[in-house]
Amino acid sequence: MSHRPWEEGADFAIGLAPIDEARWLEGGEADPAARKDTLYAQHRDLVWGETAASRPGQMEVAALIGVASAGDLPPLYAASRAVADDLVLVEKAGGHWRVSALSLSAPTFFTAADVLGKSLADIHGPVNGFNDRFLVRLARIFDGLRPGLILQRRNWSVVNSDQFFTPFSAPVRARIAEISPGDVGQALFTRVERQTVRRLPDTGGVLFTIRVWLTPFAALLESPERLSAFARAWRSAAPDFAAYKGFHLYAELVESFLRAHGESHSVNGA
Ligand code: HEM
Repeated sequence: MSHRPWEEGADFAIGLAPIDEARWLEGGEADPAARKDTLYAQHRDLVWGETAASRPGQMEVAALIGVASAGDLPPLYAASRAVADDLVLVEKAGGHWRVSALSLSAPTFFTAADVLGKSLADIHGPVNGFNDRFLVRLARIFDGLRPGLILQRRNWSVVNSDQFFTPFSAPVRARIAEISPGDVGQALFTRVERQTVRRLPDTGGVLFTIRVWLTPFAALLESPERLSAFARAWRSAAPDFAAYKGFHLYAELVESFLRAHGESHSVNGA
């Protein structure tokens, strides 16, 4: 269930809910350091960034993750290579919550350089309606987050890539035209991002974590219920959510997959 948030109605919303500390990070990746170190060596500006003032917050994150010594590495990066999740340190500066350091090895169409130093408002500017609908509430959540409380949200989208590291959308989307309807089960993926936030009690910042789960469309065929839950979510996605995620680019392929497996389209939901 956790990798199919559409079954819980998760759509374009803040959707933050409390979780137990025991369920903070989901684990399950044998060697995240191997994956992240290659990117850190080859694409440093895409996957890593820090401001000078962020070191105390970074050290608090490393302690929280249980990384005792960072060696020569920046502490947030040392912490990040110990876990599957990407780690984003958000600290208040000049009255705004800003990204002060981040390790971003599984980006969904953005880069570390894009967001370093930016405020929540700057970052979410491109998301339709975000600043009008969510920004004030989000800043309040960041201001009020009490130590020990961990909040989680999930979002989902559809992509034609099995790669975790996708900083740019253009090269991915350029390959959509190559996909034939019969290949959709292997060529399209649901991309779920599980995100958490928690306060850093000593330095006062917020740690934002991102974990990406990719599942080929073929897995939707595991049961008729699973397929129809996805079909419902896909077909009823709010228009601004669908537009923002580029769903129109996949519409024909997804519809042909759904129809080929018995999910005929009906406008009235009957
Ligand atoms: C708990 C706090 C946050 C919430 C509730 C939130 C919410 C959202 C929502 C609703 C979207 C639209 C897509 C989706 O449904 O996910 C979005 C997009 C995005 N968020 Fe956040 N966000 C949060 C924190 C952050 C932080 C700290 C970063 C910094 C890395 C970030 C980076 C982004 C980016 C890069 C996008 C895509 C924007 C674009 O296409 O240019 N978010 N966020």
